[in-house]
Amino acid sequence: MILVTGGAGFIGANFVLDWFRHSDEAILNVDKLTYAGNLGTLKSLQGNSKHVFARVDICDRAALDALFAEHRPRAIVHFAAESHVDRSIHGPVDFVQTNVIGTFVLLEAARQHWSSLNDADKAAFRFLHVSTDEVFGSLSAADPQFSETTPYAPNSPYSASKAGSDHLVRAWHHTYGMPTLTTNCSNNYGPYQFPEKLIPLMIANALAGKPLPVYGDGQNVRDWLYVGDHCAAICEVLARGKVGETYNVGGWNEKKNIEVVHTLCDLLDELRPKATGSYRDQIAYVKDRPGHDRRYAIDARKLERELGWKPAETFETGLAKTVGWYLGNQAWVDEVASGDYRNWVETNYAQRA
Ligand SMILES: NC(=O)c1ccc[n+]([C@@H]2O[C@H](COP(=O)([O-])OP(=O)(O)OC[C@H]3O[C@@H](n4cnc5c(N)ncnc54)[C@H](O)[C@@H]3O)[C@@H](O)[C@H]2O)c1
Repeated sequence: MILVTGGAGFIGANFVLDWFRHSDEAILNVDKLTYAGNLGTLKSLQGNSKHVFARVDICDRAALDALFAEHRPRAIVHFAAESHVDRSIHGPVDFVQTNVIGTFVLLEAARQHWSSLNDADKAAFRFLHVSTDEVFGSLSAADPQFSETTPYAPNSPYSASKAGSDHLVRAWHHTYGMPTLTTNCSNNYGPYQFPEKLIPLMIANALAGKPLPVYGDGQNVRDWLYVGDHCAAICEVLARGKVGETYNVGGWNEKKNIEVVHTLCDLLDELRPKATGSYRDQIAYVKDRPGHDRRYAIDARKLERELGWKPAETFETGLAKTVGWYLGNQAWVDEVASGDYRNWVETNYAQRA
């Protein structure tokens, strides 16, 4: 089996769901279930014995050792992290704890397990670390996109903690020979994203008749990738990536935040028209995030050249799918927003105690 951390979060859960569409290999899903973890997303896997869930903090070495000893995974895909930049500005401690210390503890538990394997299993073992393009800092409009050799220059507590984890993974390969891989991906969007992030927040606020808060002048640029394309890239890197390497993952979709919000409003005007006016009327510019990076953009040519990966979705097709998903899954959004999914978890686990 493979071990996935953070598999109840946005990208991790999409990865787990996608995995079982093309593989019958089991997954041990290790997630602490913070506010961002939602087992409700994985309801369709209830009763599937190939999906084993363990509510464990990656900072808990003893619990990790017990899981490795019991399940002996052949690979790890490490998603678990604190992931929201705004939260990292208000409270960086959890970011250092999970992203830096947690990754360190996981690496050490993985190294102990890896050292116990026979030579063939040792060579085949993989530790794939899922990271972000934010570690490279901010680009100006004229700069070339981030490549795998762009120097690290993280600007937020979130990106600094992810950069720290990337360096640990790199060192565990160079020092101990652990077969690691790292992916640095641009902004993801798609189903099951917690409604604190730009796209689901705008959809939720638009439908609720609330203001659509756009930071600063709305001109910050992000390079958007549909989550299913990110999951497909991770599968390619896991299967065929060169050990010790890093791969940039991006959608070739640079968009200003205000363009994203306009496109969302136009899609909603078409699919769920208001009685009067346009959703664009709800746009409200608000005070910018401190230290807000101006532009991120990914050069994903290495991944295409070496592993043949290319995104399947354009921004237009991916966004249309996403808006359609949110319109059809209001119950999921309501559950997350009301915290009902937490009750579901308590009920679920009380029954198993
Ligand atoms: N969302 C993006 O646009 C994006 C882009 C590039 C890279 N990434 C990276 O991808 C990964 C997943 O991002 P996401 O958007 O799905 O995040 P998310 O916040 O939606 O999910 C994170 C998951 O990790 C779990 N978790 C947090 N702390 C934990 C701990 N100490 N132990 C065990 N589990 C813990 C949470 O419960 C949650 O299920 C992160 O490493 C993030 O840095 C995200």
